Amino acid sequence: MFKSLLSVGEVARRAGVAVSALHFYERKGLIQSIRTNGNQRRYERSVLRRVAVIQVAQSVGMTLEEIGQALAGLPADKAPSTEDWERMSAYWHDALNARIGQLERLRDGLSSCIGCGCLSTETCPLRNPGDRIGRSGRTGAQFLTNAS
Ligand code: FES
Repeated sequence: MFKSLLSVGEVARRAGVAVSALHFYERKGLIQSIRTNGNQRRYERSVLRRVAVIQVAQSVGMTLEEIGQALAGLPADKAPSTEDWERMSAYWHDALNARIGQLERLRDGLSSCIGCGCLSTETCPLRNPGDRIGRSGRTGAQFLTNAS
């Protein structure tokens, strides 16, 4: 019954990842195994492509949660198809663009702080971006004692 399935060691060797990484991915629900009568893990061959997708997504900065959300829509026993990959990579492309936009805004805010060091709650764009503190209604000592 388990003859065509791969052991955890075979998957690790073929995918180029540590056995502990496979166990971790499984705990996070990114991959699934079947257990033998002796409680050993066995994997469908399609897990190799899933692991490749996980590795590529991690290499471009996707979190395991984001990867898990993308993989959740796919059958666990089927390798992601070209169409699946197209959909996932398009979503991750947009997520990366959003992240790049956030980093650019942080970088631009930091420019006015270079050489300053005031960290003012009124004027520093990093300390109080978009006047977050003013909008919260907390000011002065109230802000300092309730800051979270
Ligand atoms: S540290 Fe002074 S404006 Fe940010």
